[in-house]
Amino acid sequence: MYILAIESSCDETSCSIVKNGCVDVSTVILSQIDIHTNFGGVVPEIASRHHLKNITMVIEECLKKANFTMDNIDAIAITYGPGLIGSLLVGVEAAKTLAFIYNKPLIPVHHIAGHIYANNLCKKMEYPLIALVVSGGHTELVYMKDEYEFEKLGETLDDAVGESYDKVARVIGVGYPGGPVIDKMAKIGIHEYNLPIPLNDDSYNFSFSGLKSAVINLAHNYDQKGIKLNKENLAKSFQDVVVETITKKTIKALKDKNVNRLIIAGGVAANSGIRENLKKECENNKIECSYPELKYCTDNASMIGAAAYYAYKKGITADSSLNARSSVKLS
Ligand code: KG4
Ligand code: ZN
Repeated sequence: MYILAIESSCDETSCSIVKNGCVDVSTVILSQIDIHTNFGGVVPEIASRHHLKNITMVIEECLKKANFTMDNIDAIAITYGPGLIGSLLVGVEAAKTLAFIYNKPLIPVHHIAGHIYANNLCKKMEYPLIALVVSGGHTELVYMKDEYEFEKLGETLDDAVGESYDKVARVIGVGYPGGPVIDKMAKIGIHEYNLPIPLNDDSYNFSFSGLKSAVINLAHNYDQKGIKLNKENLAKSFQDVVVETITKKTIKALKDKNVNRLIIAGGVAANSGIRENLKKECENNKIECSYPELKYCTDNASMIGAAAYYAYKKGITADSSLNARSSVKLS
């Protein structure tokens, strides 16, 4: 089954053709990072305008790359939420139009289900498993008892982990998106600054806003006192706390649920500290740990095509009444 998938929930316009939920036949990703860098973050209105300008070209390019026409496509998949409403709308309308004109089934995909199923493009997923979803908009622990069955165990109560990386990067003036830069800086820094461990409790929930504020206050204090802050050491101190809290709660969820499979998903799954520490802890606890290739960690349409195959198997389809949803539960 060949699924043509579209993803436009944030600042990437992407189209992919995915075979049987696991083979990425063709993918085109047009990132708007360069445009939003000037503003230190994604500007929703600008993002939707660029999606609108580029979506047709991205779809055509994806078909051309695969040497396909719409006749080769069996279904259309689309991220319908959560995300930026204007950005989502562009993708949803494009997908609905294609499904209508070419008379193909339309498969709605939750963005987080997409991030989770990015793993299936690298290695066939087995169940039960725990998925740790860490991105610019999400920090969630999801239990999957079986194929395309999601039970959210916990989530962030405020900022998402990627968002806090981006904000910390902005405060210390190292650009956008901050995650990859802070990650690189942390590799050469040492743990010098004491930062609070957020929401250090027994729940599966996370909180990053207090940690982010602690970094901001520290930077301002040093600035006011005229003391030079070591940015690499601050990056390392920040990343260590993030890694510690994420690892602790993830391992707890695996043990409590008696599950020995972990998959890591989302843009922040690219983080070397999180990857290395979780891998080590999983080895110590005889837990199988996997994460997607780096190119499938950040937003892309192939992950949506992969998830859509399993959604379709469960009978999940939509009609032309499908609407974009800025916030919607994964269930
Ligand atoms: O999944 P994604 O592409 O978009 C959302 O769905 O949010 O994730 C983007 C986020 C950004 O916040 C970016 O700073 C973060 O992922 N990110 C990282 C790394 N690479 C990307 N955060 C920490 N370490 C990284 N290596
Ligand atoms: Zn995402």
